[in-house]
Amino acid sequence: MKPLLINQIIAPMKTFLALNPFRRSLRIWPTILAAGGCLLAGSTVMAEDAPTAAANPRPTYLGDIQPIFMGSCSRCHNQETRFVYNWLDYKTAYADRWEIRRRLWDSYKGRYYKEPMPIVNSPESLALTDADREMIKTWVDQGGARGEPPAPGAAKSKAERIKLGQRLFTSICAACHQPTGRGVPNVFPPLAGSDFLNADKARAVKLVIYGRQGEVVVNGTKFNNNMPAFPLGDQDIANVLTYVYNSFGNAGLEVTPDEVKALRAQPRDTVTPTPSPAKAAAPSAFE
Ligand code: HEC
Ligand code: HEC
Repeated sequence: MKPLLINQIIAPMKTFLALNPFRRSLRIWPTILAAGGCLLAGSTVMAEDAPTAAANPRPTYLGDIQPIFMGSCSRCHNQETRFVYNWLDYKTAYADRWEIRRRLWDSYKGRYYKEPMPIVNSPESLALTDADREMIKTWVDQGGARGEPPAPGAAKSKAERIKLGQRLFTSICAACHQPTGRGVPNVFPPLAGSDFLNADKARAVKLVIYGRQGEVVVNGTKFNNNMPAFPLGDQDIANVLTYVYNSFGNAGLEVTPDEVKALRAQPRDTVTPTPSPAKAAAPSAFE
């Protein structure tokens, strides 16, 4: 009886792992989780409302490609990295677009000898959908147009802000923090129920404006990694953080564009975390 049972379990697993193409199907999980995340958040936005790559026949850099790069490439390719290119910069991405196409499409399909991008099995490579890859390929094939930045999401109410913010969250933040907001152990801290996030709104806003490197303790767990700064306007940052604060069991706060604007005027390191006796005694680890 026993050997048969074990065989029943192991044989299909071996087949699953041996057949490489099957593993590609794992890539649909982030999409499914994203849909689940919407439901969990109790949001009114349906999955079909999320921007889909395949829907746009003439993608442009500012409208379609840069948001993907923010989520899926920027941990390694950002304005502060010195040995790899910064794909958040149009000119850089445009100049190397054919190599971007080869790494994202040809290598991924096994038709180019250099390593596929994003690096295989990184959270980013698992989050990047086939539709995203195809859109980047189309963008390169059509000449790498710059396009216009998307109109800033001017929200008239908190509900609208949350709705607009969800789109940004899905296209940018979810690649790292995951559609569930739970993060990835040892790599990306959770936003869901994050004590760090909920304790200090101004600190969270500045973190998104400037990015953050170094040690951070979230819900008692240490992380030490790099979140890049994103080219996002005041409205976008207000919307996305309001979405995050009103999802995943967080504190329900609203962030306004005026607040973001005021904090942007401050230098990176002057925000003092909400004082607590312990923090007042020792220099803060965030600044
Ligand atoms: C986890 C880190 C990481 C992520 C995420 C990542 N890359 Fe890379 N990338 C690297 C490293 C390291 C190199 C240099 C080594 C190499 O060329 O393979 C590189 C090299 C490249 C190159 C070759 C540049 C050249 O001309 O030699 C391209 C193109 C590229 N990446 C595109 C991307 C794109 C587009 C994304 C997002 C969709 C991405 N990468 C995500 C780490 C990363
Ligand atoms: C490329 C991956 C990546 C993306 C995309 C990303 N983050 Fe992060 N984020 C991180 C990392 C890594 C840290 C921890 C940085 C450190 O170790 O100092 C972090 C930390 C945070 C924190 C503070 C810690 C916590 O868990 O509460 C907040 C808040 C946050 N990110 C919000 C966002 C928002 C909002 C977005 C989308 C606009 C976003 N992040 C996009 C990687 C990312």
